[in-house]
Amino acid sequence: MDNNKIVVFDTTLRDGEQSPGCSMNTEEKIKVAKQLEKLGVDVIEAGFAAASPGDFDAVSRIAEQIEKSSICSLSRAVENDIKQAALAVQKAKMHRIHTFIATSPIHMKYKLKMSEEEVIKRAVYAVEYARTFVDDVEFSLEDAGRSEISFMKEVMDAVIAAGATTINLPDTVGYRLPTELGAMVKELSDFAANRAIISVHNHNDLGLATANTLAAVTNGARQIEVTMNGLGERAGNSALEESVMAIKTRRDAFKDLYTNINTKEIYATSRLVATITGVEPQQNKAIVGKNAFAHESGIHQDGVLKHQETYEIMRPEDVGVIKDSTLILGKHSGRAAFKDKITNLGFDTVTSEELNSAFEKFKILADKKKEVTDDDIRMLITDESLNQ
Ligand code: KIV
Ligand code: ZN
Repeated sequence: MDNNKIVVFDTTLRDGEQSPGCSMNTEEKIKVAKQLEKLGVDVIEAGFAAASPGDFDAVSRIAEQIEKSSICSLSRAVENDIKQAALAVQKAKMHRIHTFIATSPIHMKYKLKMSEEEVIKRAVYAVEYARTFVDDVEFSLEDAGRSEISFMKEVMDAVIAAGATTINLPDTVGYRLPTELGAMVKELSDFAANRAIISVHNHNDLGLATANTLAAVTNGARQIEVTMNGLGERAGNSALEESVMAIKTRRDAFKDLYTNINTKEIYATSRLVATITGVEPQQNKAIVGKNAFAHESGIHQDGVLKHQETYEIMRPEDVGVIKDSTLILGKHSGRAAFKDKITNLGFDTVTSEELNSAFEKFKILADKKKEVTDDDIRMLITDESLNQ
């Protein structure tokens, strides 16, 4: 494997969906999965198949429809979860099972009520069982951020021998500081050497999820687990758009590390997730917030007009943010204005049948709404391409 490539593992549909008020139905999850594929995500964690029949259905339908990203289901280290995960992802072109058990003293003592030996035995069993279904098995040491390094090394040795191909080190409660997390990743990725890919999964409880993710990649992690708009449990997960754009914008500092993300699809993905979940990124959210590229002060506006780079380290168009359009669509708008709008929104490969059908639906919507927004149009076009 190319040692500079950072694998992007998106868990918007699993950990992101665990965020209060963010649950999505199957059709909505399929729309998000298709957009994540277009974005260039390497692995889509499509859900937790054993959690409910609805989750199973969503993972398996996504598995049937996605071709370019690997489809993964989460499972606890128990037989039925792993079996359900395997059944749900089996139709995918590329698939993975992600199994986990906690390794921190506090989780083992109070939650699992298991000894270290029992945890290792269960972890090995889970990985071996998952390997009977798929070649690509990820194992997570839940609460790695608060686990002991020596015990994590024992677990890693055992699960790698059992067939785990990716070892994920979640900072489950967002406890670690970047210097600490970087040191942990360095020690464990040197320990794993080339036996497995080291991954990180950072929560944002102290607002450090992205800083921790970036500290991890500079210390040997080659997979990052992220969500769109930073959705996720409590304060959320590390945001895809932040780490990806930091690695791209500061390629010099990251010594040529790169991702396969098509950054021009970032904004469209963010809007789709916000529209579907109803959870808007805060206005000043890095990369995708409403104000991320807005310049209010006169000095800044003057500077940007003279030379964009005076106050902009990234170009809005690099993440697919389009220049404000004065074209407002309503029931009197014609096909040409509609076509212009969807091209501006980045949908330049829409066929004429899709355009015609979306235009008809736009007219019906425009009769009901005074003004049809860019998000409305994005949803119309996404629905159209899904129906083809
Ligand atoms: O935060 C966490 O530890 C998780 C694991 C299940 C990977 O989401
Ligand atoms: Zn998590």
